Amino acid sequence: MSSEVWPLPGAIAYGGDYNPEQWPRHVWDEDVTLMREAGVNLVSVGIFSWAKLEIEEGVYDFTWLDELLDLLHGHGIAVDLATPSVSPPAWFFAAYPQARAIDADGVVMGFGSRGMASHASPEYRSAIVQMADQLAERYASHPGVVMWHVHNEYGVPVGEDFSEASVAAWRNWLQHRYQSLENLNAAWGTAFWGQYYRQWDHVVAPARTPTVVNPAMKLDWARFTDDQLRECYRLERDAIRAHATQPITTNFMAHQSWNTDLWKWAQEVDIVSDDHYLWSPDPDAHVALALSADLTRSVAGGRPWILMEHSTSAVNWQGQNIAKRPGEMQRNALTHLGRGADAIMFFQWRASRSGAEKFHSAMLPHAGPSSRVFREVTELGHRLGRLGELQGGRTRAEVAVLYDWESLWAQDLEWRPSDDLAFRERMRTYYERLWRDGIAVDFAHPSADLSGYRLVVAPASYLLTAAAAENLTRYVADGGTLLVSCFAAAVDENDAVHPGGFGVPLQTALGVSVQEYLPMRTGETCQVDFNGHTLTTDVWTEDLTLAGAEVLGHYRGGPADCAPAITRHRHGSGTGWYVSTRLDLAGLTPVFQAAYADAGLTPAGHPEGLEVMRRYVRDEPDTPAVAPTERPRAEHASTEHAPTADADREATGTTEYVIAVNHRPDAATLKVPGTDLFTGELIDGELTLPGGSTAVVRTQEPITHPQPR
Ligand code: GLA
Repeated sequence: MSSEVWPLPGAIAYGGDYNPEQWPRHVWDEDVTLMREAGVNLVSVGIFSWAKLEIEEGVYDFTWLDELLDLLHGHGIAVDLATPSVSPPAWFFAAYPQARAIDADGVVMGFGSRGMASHASPEYRSAIVQMADQLAERYASHPGVVMWHVHNEYGVPVGEDFSEASVAAWRNWLQHRYQSLENLNAAWGTAFWGQYYRQWDHVVAPARTPTVVNPAMKLDWARFTDDQLRECYRLERDAIRAHATQPITTNFMAHQSWNTDLWKWAQEVDIVSDDHYLWSPDPDAHVALALSADLTRSVAGGRPWILMEHSTSAVNWQGQNIAKRPGEMQRNALTHLGRGADAIMFFQWRASRSGAEKFHSAMLPHAGPSSRVFREVTELGHRLGRLGELQGGRTRAEVAVLYDWESLWAQDLEWRPSDDLAFRERMRTYYERLWRDGIAVDFAHPSADLSGYRLVVAPASYLLTAAAAENLTRYVADGGTLLVSCFAAAVDENDAVHPGGFGVPLQTALGVSVQEYLPMRTGETCQVDFNGHTLTTDVWTEDLTLAGAEVLGHYRGGPADCAPAITRHRHGSGTGWYVSTRLDLAGLTPVFQAAYADAGLTPAGHPEGLEVMRRYVRDEPDTPAVAPTERPRAEHASTEHAPTADADREATGTTEYVIAVNHRPDAATLKVPGTDLFTGELIDGELTLPGGSTAVVRTQEPITHPQPR
């Protein structure tokens, strides 16, 4: 991202949602003083403020917001100004009760919460455009407003809507997509269970039905919902753009979102931003955090992004809300930064005394500024203040993990061979293998240009179009290494089995297809003999048909006893691997080792639990560092990142930064000569990171002249 687009050039943004309308005026003065103390330089304002801004229809009160923006600006705190469309006021629903969303059971969403409007309601759409227009007209030229924040987390709490307006929009959407009922009948396979349609107005939404709804219809409904939400976003964005030049964003939820296809959403925003919350039951939730950060950067096309929300300590909406322990918030923040975030923001600045989120942590907790949390918030703010030179830095990866929201939607539908095989679980386990091996990854859509990657991993490609399969086949033919997990390429874009059977579109690349899925009973396990290792597996096996692949792993026990389990196939100048079962992290270890060898990759070999990330800043301003797809696949890989840092500098004139996060309780060392940006000290060879700590190292001074080797 060029620094023109970044709202705070040369600085890492730090702050959070700020909801001062919940507090008396004198508290605002304390807020800005403490914000400065904590190093806050950006806050998101107005996300839930509609009722305070439009007090009755068409009657606005901007006085408090005028005063607030001036106060913040006067204290050097920039504003990400939000539109409040996620929370229409009581008067709106009283005037337009038909604008409330309706769920699949026909239940109308009541007032008294947030996010209950129908995305298709003409009254809602008109009201959000007016509100965005008013805000943008008034504040477009306010010097403190550096960016715009549209809505809040599209798709939650309400994504799907079965109101009359939504069903009417759905029929229009289908007419546009299919042109004729004949096409729709063919795509949905309506000959099955006698669902054939002869009139457009007979086509209903997939609401509650006696048993399973047509899956192709449901998949289209997910696409429709996503499109509708994006239409609402565009309406507000364009209303803002008519007045304002600042970048416009909306906050995504990467791996935690369901309703939104972020590959498409990222095309619509000026800067990608994301919210991420740790999932308390997961003891290794920092791995899911890393996944989410890599996914966010990837949908952003590698450009720096904004971590719009995370928590300083506990959230309040999980069964058991586990507080972060000392140092954990900083480790979380640094992982986001190391994976491309140029803004570290929280929900929220000051903890709310009232309402549904009073037990949610904040930058300034109920315990006030002399609390542990505020001390850590201040320390983090000061540390980030020393990292301005990283702003705009890119990451590099030689491995791509395929991620497609359409495949997630499709695999999540009902009546699959096993409920125990899930998209998100496979994605996490495959990602975690790479994370533990210290291999940097990008995520990619299966149709993307993959030619810059040595290894492409497909953990959950249940839905794979013929065109995407061709893309992967070409990738292998051209020398890539492809590693595909079970239940891949089962269906096409209509959730229909590919002609010829399961996995057939990948047969040329993998040398194998699938006769039958052979899932196991819950709790049942069997073995796979692979390269001298005995791997234990569960949940899923397959009966494979070989079409040229060599068999490197056989089942021992289970429904596919003695049959091929793991295969490898040479196609063109590349290699296609197929893993037909649900291996766990340990089981995947030797399989990945073998695939790394094919791809010419070597795991980093860091101590377990030491997370090491790298960012590269181009010496010339405003020129993005070299993106992976621009780099030819090298003949030999070095550890972690090839080529080495020194060679990189010569080749591209970049400065390399190492961001290290020690998740271990004890100290870890890392060979990284350079300057520790937190302490300013020179590191003579080896950096020691105490247990739970973080460090950011500039590996050498920026190069202004070519260096001799
Ligand atoms: C979401 C919302 C915030 C807040 C947090 C709490 O991310 O965007 O308004 O409710 O959750 O974790």
